[in-house]
Order: sequence, then structure tokens, then C-alpha cells
Amino acid sequence: MKKILLTGALGQIGSELTAKLRSVYGSDNVIATDIRETDSHVVHNGPFEKLDVTDAEKMFDIAKKNNVDTIIHLAALLSATAEKKPLLAWNLNMGGLVNALETARELDCQFFTPSSIGAFGPTTPKNSTPQDTIMRPTTMYGVNKVSGELLSDYYFQKFGVDTRGLRFPGLISYETLPGGGTTDYAVEIYYEAIKNNAYTSYIGEGTHMDMMYMPDALQAIIDLMEADPSKLEHRNSFNVSAMSIAPEDAASAIRVHQPDFKLDYDVDPVRQAIAESWPDAIDSSAAKAEWGFKANFDLAKMTADMLDKLKTK
Ligand code: SER
Repeated sequence: MKKILLTGALGQIGSELTAKLRSVYGSDNVIATDIRETDSHVVHNGPFEKLDVTDAEKMFDIAKKNNVDTIIHLAALLSATAEKKPLLAWNLNMGGLVNALETARELDCQFFTPSSIGAFGPTTPKNSTPQDTIMRPTTMYGVNKVSGELLSDYYFQKFGVDTRGLRFPGLISYETLPGGGTTDYAVEIYYEAIKNNAYTSYIGEGTHMDMMYMPDALQAIIDLMEADPSKLEHRNSFNVSAMSIAPEDAASAIRVHQPDFKLDYDVDPVRQAIAESWPDAIDSSAAKAEWGFKANFDLAKMTADMLDKLKTK
């Protein structure tokens, strides 16, 4: 990666990834784009262009004009929003992806796009979910993610585009809030712990999902993109997880710092059904074996850091 184009750069992953990539590869070598333009370091601290990813011509022009050799395509709707607006999700998630893959093919760029635990479905093995297993998701987001994995592998096999991807779990961060995801509770619980010392969870007790702290997710993207291609047996996409937790586990970790923290539940049937269709705990061993994936933050370490950073914020 030397000259990188990012889409969705103002989103939850994009805002922190832009800063990280600019620190590693140099500010001028990271061209951030997003459909919005806000008063953010993403816009002010390096090249930024407004881009709707369904506009194929504009995406190509920005990539060509800046001589990029890498595309990191992040712009997408998350699971709960996609369930509310399935056709919009199809058009945006798949339309944006095919435009980004085409740009990568025409300009011979390396390519990254995230997949998700949402690519799995109710018939997938729930625990130690293998890298290669049944993938029959029942959400529009999951349909998009599986299709995206297949399309990205197709661009590698058919056209030789160096496509790589990660099946991210719920990502927890303090800088930019996620929006419209099923795993968002695991971010909200920390904000509410600081504000109110209490949280009402829309995900039910005992519902396990994989999670990861944002610094580990950013490092995983860089490590995968820098990995020796001859070592990669898989490409789109690798299982990666740092922890499997239910809401009460996050609450217990918060109580180490705030003993009176209160958790109760008001379950949202739509997001609960999505969560129940996903695995409890995926197996990241292929990522570890093929390119050395490692997560540095477990639940206790992440909780201490989140509470600390949010207090300052
Ligand atoms: N965090 C995402 C969501 O909940 C999962 O990839 O939609």
C-alpha cells in the first residue's frame, strides 16, 4: 500500500483507519472520500473528496487522478438499517462494491473490503465457526456480504485483482459511533456507563456475538494488506475475532471500574432475531496461520481503555 483511496472514510471504521493510514503511509498518500463532508480530521488532515460510491465514473476519476494503487472500500449500510431498507442496501452495498472492484481492475489496484459475521446464518455451526462452512444468511446485509465475498474472489480468479477481506465481528470504538448495526449495543453500553452508569440493552441476556476493539481491527487490515500473497490460501474473507460476549459480560467488565453499573433489558425483536441468526463465536485460526492475525485487546483490557478514553472525551 503506497497510495490509498478510502470510501466511507467518515464512518466508524473509516474515520480511525484514515488517521492510522495517514500516520503509516503519509497524509498525502491517503485519499479519503465519503458521501458527506463534515468538520472532521478526515476532511482537514489530508486529501478529501465527496463521493457517492454508486457514481462509478466519479470513483474512477478520483482514483485515476490521484494515481492510487490501493482501494479500501468501506461505504455500506449495516445490518439493522439494511433490514429496514433492503433494496437500498442491495443497491448501495452491491453497487458500490462492483464500482470499487471495477476501478481496482482497470487501474490495477490492491483491494480491501470488509465482510462480517453477518455473512453467516442460522444453519452455520454456532461455535468455533470454521473459516470454510455453510453460509446461508437470512438478512439482506448477510446476502450482500456473501455476494461481496464471492464477487471479490471472482475478481481475483478471473482478473487477477489482489482482493483481500476480513469477516469483522462487532467493532467497538470511542471515536465515531457505528450506525444501524446489530452489535452497536456493545459500543452504546460504554457511552451510557459514562453518562448514566446504566444501560438498557436491546439485545437479550445470554446472546453471544463476536467483538473486537478498533485498534486490533485497524492493525488487522494493515497486516492482511501487507501479507505475502503466496501465504494466502483464502482471500475473501478471513474470520477474525477477539472475544465472544453477551451484554452481561460487558456489564461485568464495566463493574470492575464502576461497581454500581446497572444493566437491564428491553429487547428489540428485529435486532435480536438478527443476532440469533449469527454465530456465537467464530474461529480465527486460518487468519492466524496464513498472515499472523493477533488481537491485543480482550474484554477486560478493552473495557479499561474505552472507559478511560470516553471519560476524557
Ligand atoms: N457490526 C455489524 C452489524 O451489526 C456486523 O458486521 O451490522
